[in-house]
Amino acid sequence: MRFHVLTLFPQILDGLNTSITGRALDKGVLSVNAVNIRDFTNSKHLKVDDYPYGGGAGLVMQAQPVCDAYDSIIESIGKKPRVVYMTPQGHTFNQKMAQDFAKEDDLVILCGHYEGIDERALNLIVTDYVSIGDYVLTGGELPAMVMIDAISRLVPGVLNNEESARTESFCDGLLEYPQYSRPYEYKGMKVPDVLLSGNHGKVDEWRHEQSLERTKKIRPDLYERYVKEHPEEFETGSGKNNLRRNVDET
Ligand code: ADE
Repeated sequence: MRFHVLTLFPQILDGLNTSITGRALDKGVLSVNAVNIRDFTNSKHLKVDDYPYGGGAGLVMQAQPVCDAYDSIIESIGKKPRVVYMTPQGHTFNQKMAQDFAKEDDLVILCGHYEGIDERALNLIVTDYVSIGDYVLTGGELPAMVMIDAISRLVPGVLNNEESARTESFCDGLLEYPQYSRPYEYKGMKVPDVLLSGNHGKVDEWRHEQSLERTKKIRPDLYERYVKEHPEEFETGSGKNNLRRNVDET
């Protein structure tokens, strides 16, 4: 998958060159093409922003360099891909959106700074408005990196087998169960015995119960959705009904 990031601060994207995304970039499964919007300004002084019409604080990124930078991408790839504008006014990013974007071969991500981007540029090029949460950051680069990371791990070949298997067990809409590693006892706290039992069935059951319990407590909205989507697990008389009882008793 190819990401094309329109930005005034391309160096911020260097953070993707490490860990799992870094490995995928080295392998060529992913590419991140950071396009510097300033390289496309027609201004003698390399200006890319100006005062807002109507007054007010801050500067607005002008339409011309943004649209010309976008045109350069269209020209180089020979098609019009989706263009995501990172903005607190967008739809809140989630796993389902990550899955949807991961189907694209090319994705353009537009990062704003200052007081935003001239509305005409947005109307001309943007297909999706996306926020990473209800808080305001100084620019769209960190949100773009969050989105690239979440999308990348869904692209075939980015995660190795072990990492993919882990992903599958967590995409059921529940929070992750607790994990433990050596030593068996740390500051008086022991690892739950079931994890040392060698009984994989029991371990899976315990982990699922922990996931349910945690989700119910921390994210009741996700828990309710899970219950609705898995009625068979909670039916009276079913073998798995114990799960419900355990969770409700906590
Ligand atoms: N730019 C500034 N804040 C943002 C946010 N919360 N999400 C996406 N883009 C942003």
